[in-house]
Amino acid sequence: MAVVVTGASGYIGSHIVANLLARGEAVRATVRDVTDPERVAHLEALPIADGGSLDIVEMDLFDAASVDAAIAGASDLIHTAASVIVRSKDPQRKIVDPSVIGTENVVAAVEKAGTVERFVHTSSTAAIRPMNYRDGMTLTTDTWADDATLEDNPYGLAKVSSERIVRGWHAAQPAESRPRLVTIHPCMVFGPPMSPRHLRGSLALLMAMVRRETPLNLPMQVSIVDVRDVAEAHVRALTGGEEEGRYLVVAGDMMMGDMAKALKKAHPKRRWATWVAPYWFALFVALFHPKISVSWARNHLRKKLYWDASPAERDLEMIWKDPIESLLDTTPAIFENGWD
Ligand SMILES: NC(=O)c1ccc[n+]([C@@H]2O[C@H](COP(=O)([O-])OP(=O)(O)OC[C@H]3O[C@@H](n4cnc5c(N)ncnc54)[C@H](OP(=O)(O)O)[C@@H]3O)[C@@H](O)[C@H]2O)c1
Repeated sequence: MAVVVTGASGYIGSHIVANLLARGEAVRATVRDVTDPERVAHLEALPIADGGSLDIVEMDLFDAASVDAAIAGASDLIHTAASVIVRSKDPQRKIVDPSVIGTENVVAAVEKAGTVERFVHTSSTAAIRPMNYRDGMTLTTDTWADDATLEDNPYGLAKVSSERIVRGWHAAQPAESRPRLVTIHPCMVFGPPMSPRHLRGSLALLMAMVRRETPLNLPMQVSIVDVRDVAEAHVRALTGGEEEGRYLVVAGDMMMGDMAKALKKAHPKRRWATWVAPYWFALFVALFHPKISVSWARNHLRKKLYWDASPAERDLEMIWKDPIESLLDTTPAIFENGWD
């Protein structure tokens, strides 16, 4: 009986596979293309503790037969696969559908398999954070990002929708035959990438700083959690935490300007942009910037938002890595592999 990890080629999925193999688990890792070295080479190189095994299988969330085959006979499922982009010309097809159609296929496969005893679904703080929030407020998992729309927050919409699909399906199953279910809600994830594919998604901001794509930092708070802690929380949630629990995994936060200063201190020979743009200037930049909008800037810049991760500390016994450690542990693999 294997632990299936969907999206195993991904940043978080790869660390979950590494964590499970280090515990000697039998892992069935799903990827979209088993012949692509950027998706599988780092998985094949992972150390495997006694009793463990790694089976890499091809699965596309839109191909229901491949989802059925990947999950058949599994005892445990960690469903991380999703499209992790926040804007697209076709947000329905590129951002929402993989989460919605994909997760519908996943729960249908779990039902068909009838063997899955534990199900951990990767959700996000994006499924919790409403578009508008009060400066300085602390969010808990009581909140849902129900105001997310295709136009203004397609990624939030995708994460809310997929979590609701999992929870709705779960609630409709007979209590005696349904798997244990927990959802994990990371904020922005940092920590060692294992493949150049991991530099997209949450590492895109850091890569823009590494590549000095902009000469300035925004007056922006970044909530941070380490990818190794995210993986650990997923694995602990297979057996720990409350049934149907929603767990925020957030270690703390840094201002973007402080991130730049820490990176400069750690790598003084490289050039870093350390100037923090004043708010009015950042709004002006947003007017012309291809990646940020004025409404996004108004909603996010200068504001503080905190997350209550104490339930994960209590129920999953998580102790978070310091955000600055996670940040500084991200860059060595980037520089050593020439991914910068
Ligand atoms: N990184 C963060 O800061 C963060 C924060 C909160 C929540 N999350 C959630 O964590 C999960 C993993 O994110 P990540 O950061 O690890 O992103 P990632 O590196 O982009 O990984 C996403 C994974 O999903 C797979 N995938 C995408 N579309 C698929 C499809 N149609 N069929 C099958 N697989 C597909 C990708 O496969 P390919 O390699 O083939 O593209 C990849 O393995 C996502 O659910 C994301 O929403 C991430």
